Amino acid sequence: MKTILTTSPTEAAKFIKRGGTVAFPTETVYGLGANVFDEQAINKIFAAKKRPNDNPLIAHVGNLTQIESLVSEINHTARQFIEAFFPAPLTLVLPKSRKVPLIATANLETIGVRMPKNDLALKFLRACAAPLVAPSANLSGKPSPTSWLAVYEDLNGRIDCILQGAMTEIGLESTVVDCTSEFPLILRAGAITLEDLRKIVPETKIYQIKENESPKSPGLKHRHYSPRAKVTLISNFKFPMSERCAFIGLSAPDEKFDLVKICPSVKDYAHSLFDFFRQCDRREIKEIFCQTIEERGIGLALMDRLKRAAESGTPPS
Ligand code: TXA
Ligand code: MG
Repeated sequence: MKTILTTSPTEAAKFIKRGGTVAFPTETVYGLGANVFDEQAINKIFAAKKRPNDNPLIAHVGNLTQIESLVSEINHTARQFIEAFFPAPLTLVLPKSRKVPLIATANLETIGVRMPKNDLALKFLRACAAPLVAPSANLSGKPSPTSWLAVYEDLNGRIDCILQGAMTEIGLESTVVDCTSEFPLILRAGAITLEDLRKIVPETKIYQIKENESPKSPGLKHRHYSPRAKVTLISNFKFPMSERCAFIGLSAPDEKFDLVKICPSVKDYAHSLFDFFRQCDRREIKEIFCQTIEERGIGLALMDRLKRAAESGTPPS
């Protein structure tokens, strides 16, 4: 399959209308989109990404009215979050409409819905004239793509089109909030923080998996965000140095590394992390030391991704 590159949202939308798959930028990471009501097109997403089919997809809308076609009910909690934040790096999990095929939600009776805060994404979604399911546009298990080049690296020849935009602003995936329980539950931390959500609904909590329970967010059990290099978290600046090491963090280490990224803020650290992981793999770095940070604000989401990357170990080649 030839993958077409374009900067035109209307050109890219033509592929969706013909039942194809298109990678497009959002404010979080690039997504791989297909029409939410087109089962065959959704199948192509799972195949292109080599994604396990028990991992549900997020539906993306270009306007608020489209949400009604995806869910059976917008409850009071969800309405409050939509009014306060949308468009935003925030996904709300709600009971799904019967019109949405089960393959989109991996047989769950709920669906994650979000309206991205990115002009090119919104132009593209509006040109498609239908909501799109879109997981991150990476091969399953690899770090989410924050540039169109990262998408190209993973999916060239496997998808119909890449809508080329700028590097994504946030760099970490959206906050996922389950709005079907008694209290809103954060299933995945992101740029809309616990503190932000509690200003609207003070009872909002972070979901903790109980032992012997299957996770509420199936994606949580899959391996994630891992570069080929080993990832080691470091708080004391004592480095067990070996060959071909890299460092990313907020303050400069004394040791000499093959690749170093010092980030002026936690926000910048989040923005750069996945891109840095990919740079390390291109340079055949063996070990990446990542400075730990306080789990507050976006620091919670960043530490979540760092811990997952560190847990992953070296993936099978
Ligand atoms: O920022 C983002 O959310 C990006 C951009 C492209 O929008 N998308 C993204 O999608 O990260 P994906 O498929 O890589 O991650 C979706 C996560 C998974 O952890 C999945 O398990 C969870 O959201 N999820 C999706 N639908 C769900 C549902 N109905 N119930 C619980 N968790 C759900
Ligand atoms: Mg993903």
